[in-house]
Amino acid sequence: MASFSAKVHLRVVESSAFGAASGALVADTLRQKPDAVLGLPTGNTPIPVYQDLLARQRQGLDLSRARVAMLDEYLGAGERRISFFRWLQEHFLEPAGIGPERVLRMPSAPLAIESACAAFEAQLAAWGGCDLQLLGLGLNGHIGFNEPGSPQDSHTRVVPLSQITRDANEDYWQGEEVPEFGVTTGIAVLLQARRLVLLVNGERKAEILRQTLEGPISSAVPASFLRLGREVWVIADRPAAVHLSPASMQPALDATVTPS
Ligand code: PGA
Repeated sequence: MASFSAKVHLRVVESSAFGAASGALVADTLRQKPDAVLGLPTGNTPIPVYQDLLARQRQGLDLSRARVAMLDEYLGAGERRISFFRWLQEHFLEPAGIGPERVLRMPSAPLAIESACAAFEAQLAAWGGCDLQLLGLGLNGHIGFNEPGSPQDSHTRVVPLSQITRDANEDYWQGEEVPEFGVTTGIAVLLQARRLVLLVNGERKAEILRQTLEGPISSAVPASFLRLGREVWVIADRPAAVHLSPASMQPALDATVTPS
């Protein structure tokens, strides 16, 4: 039996529809609130979502007032090439025309990082909090850089990165050494988002998605805390959903399987 609550909306889609299904949720939030605060991740998973949003913008979706809060960053990234801020600029912010005044950048300078993290949260609160938080799922169950062991009450902070995360991140940077520490929005802050959207694709994520949705809610799999969120969407492609139980896929739990 599925152990996640009915407020977790699971949508299983064809891989080719992954970006559009996820982008539709972001577009819906922006239609309701054009100056919505979007919490945005980096990585391979969200690329089709950003491409979908840029395509929607060309067709009239208004991004001119959208605000963006970064999810995480490397400690010490600064203006280096290996920076999530630069990644996000290149893949979404610049093509979408979202300027720095509408971007809440995750701090990365090691000096006074604790007070900078507190200032990040204060600014997010001043913006009214996050309306929609997009998240990828790490192979080890992390969300943002909330690695296994991250508690439910964690706030924005510096975290040591696990080897599995550093290895996975190496793909993005073609040989540059991945930093040992990250800075991440904490679980407690993520759970305040009005809408959470977890993006999961590929069969290599199937087992961790099963644990996320059907295993115990525990810091061993930080993504499992999402089941405590206010409104939670999981967009999974078919390969990522192969280990989910039939109960999880029941229409009563809002699962939508696009016919092949
Ligand atoms: P990926 O990373 O999109 O590159 O698979 C997801 C994550 O680790 O959050």
